[in-house]
Amino acid sequence: EAAPLVLGIETSCDETGVGVVRGTRLLANVIASSMEQHARYGGVVPEVAARAHLEALTPTLTTALDEAGVTLDELDAIAVTSGPGLSGALMVGVGAAKALAVATGKPLYAVNHLVGHVGADVLSTGDDGGAEVEYPTIALLVSGGHTSLLLVRDLISDVELLGETIDDAAGEAFDKVARLLGLPYPGGPQIDAAAASGDPTAIRFPRGLSLPKDMAEHRYDFSFSGLKTAVARWVEQRQDAGEPVPVADVAASFREAVADVLVTKAIAACNDLGVPRLLLGGGVVANARVRALAEQRADAAGIALRIPPLSLCTDNGAMIAALGAQLVAGGRPPSGLGFAADSTLP
Ligand code: KG4
Ligand code: ZN
Repeated sequence: EAAPLVLGIETSCDETGVGVVRGTRLLANVIASSMEQHARYGGVVPEVAARAHLEALTPTLTTALDEAGVTLDELDAIAVTSGPGLSGALMVGVGAAKALAVATGKPLYAVNHLVGHVGADVLSTGDDGGAEVEYPTIALLVSGGHTSLLLVRDLISDVELLGETIDDAAGEAFDKVARLLGLPYPGGPQIDAAAASGDPTAIRFPRGLSLPKDMAEHRYDFSFSGLKTAVARWVEQRQDAGEPVPVADVAASFREAVADVLVTKAIAACNDLGVPRLLLGGGVVANARVRALAEQRADAAGIALRIPPLSLCTDNGAMIAALGAQLVAGGRPPSGLGFAADSTLP
């Protein structure tokens, strides 16, 4: 029996993503981003994102089908992100997916965005027909919208949220700190580049929720707003004193604090739960220090680290298609048309 051919649609934030997979084989992964339209606001504007999805969806879909060399008729199923994410943005993708399902008569699967990030890991971009993924695994998902630690026992039936950020997402913290250092949006790549020539030990910034009393209650949760405030205060004091701000040192010290707390908590989850596997996902995984520290500490702890290619780590439609294909292969019933976009889907 041939592996299912599935189309995936992702519109939860500012990326319009359409992907096509056959089982665990990636056939197309096309993305249109409205990032540039948000740059002058310093963050994603929901209304602007929703409108951009409306404009981008049809061309993105056409390109993805062309690249995959398949027609809508050939699909076995359609999968779409139903949440969590920006309400108006999600509605565009869900509406489009329902329309396609009605028009083609194909089964439709509603997919959780965060589980989609984990699902990206099964995809193979080579000719080997799919990655050998083992469960259980701990997954650390870090982007502009989420910072979550998951225990994945089974991709389609058993994903447990261990913890998440109680305030800002890690990528959001990068973007906000970049802004106060006068660097353009999105700030993550800018800070990463500036940090390369800085001293990560120059300033000791706080590691959120890492004190013993916090670890008792929030062992797998994250907090980045205190860190952001600490950086802001440090920079202000410099400016008030009429001294220049050492941007590279601030960037390196901030990046170190974020990377340290992310990796420390992810490795702690692996050790506590006896799960010697860690998967990273989300746009912040592009960060050079996050990757290096994860590699170093996973290696030292005997933990197998998986980092999908960056094009599959950031928001995309292929990860949604991949999860859809797993649901089809697992004999799961389709979602039907009765579901709605749910911005706060757990
Ligand atoms: O996954 P993603 O493309 O979109 C969502 O937010 O869902 O992640 C984008 C986030 C932005 O906050 C961006 O600043 C951050 O990922 N980012 C980085 C780096 N590249 C992107 N953060 C730190 N270092 C980077 N190199
Ligand atoms: Zn995401």
